[in-house]
Amino acid sequence: MATKKPITLSINGSEKSYEVEPRLLLVHLLRDVAGLTGTHIGCDTSICGACTVMLNGNAVKSCTVLAVQADGGEVLTIEGLARGVKLHPIQEAFWECHGLQCGFCTPGMILSAHQLLQRNPKPTETEIRHAIDGNLCRCTGYQHIVDAVQQAAKQMRPKTKSVRRKA
Ligand code: FES
Ligand code: FES
Repeated sequence: MATKKPITLSINGSEKSYEVEPRLLLVHLLRDVAGLTGTHIGCDTSICGACTVMLNGNAVKSCTVLAVQADGGEVLTIEGLARGVKLHPIQEAFWECHGLQCGFCTPGMILSAHQLLQRNPKPTETEIRHAIDGNLCRCTGYQHIVDAVQQAAKQMRPKTKSVRRKA
């Protein structure tokens, strides 16, 4: 049996330490060890994007990353986006724009959208479609998802304040 390796990483802002087998995938660490089942497994072959999480600020498919590769890193999963009962603007927008039906693809979609909006606060429809092209949805179609990301982008852009000039 392979010797277990100690790893320490931040998951949704909390530092965690584990002893893991070197072959353990990050998605299994998150779901089976940390109990964060919002990260889904749809294919295990890097195609569907259901397992997408942020690792050190980059959206990654956690079924293609070993847990030991995340040692010392920062992981953000869907459970880390809301602030208590207040949903993140991307989550709100998916709800309001009907960007989901069964919800299986949604955590991964939202984290891919999160990466996009951090890097590009005003994406075009083409840029949104490109950003989520590694995330498959089997039930909603993509138009409502694109609408949701556009709405989230509007909500997340800093509002420009109108400055009233003195007469
Ligand atoms: S489960 Fe990772 S891409 Fe499908
Ligand atoms: S909402 Fe069901 S797979 Fe996307």
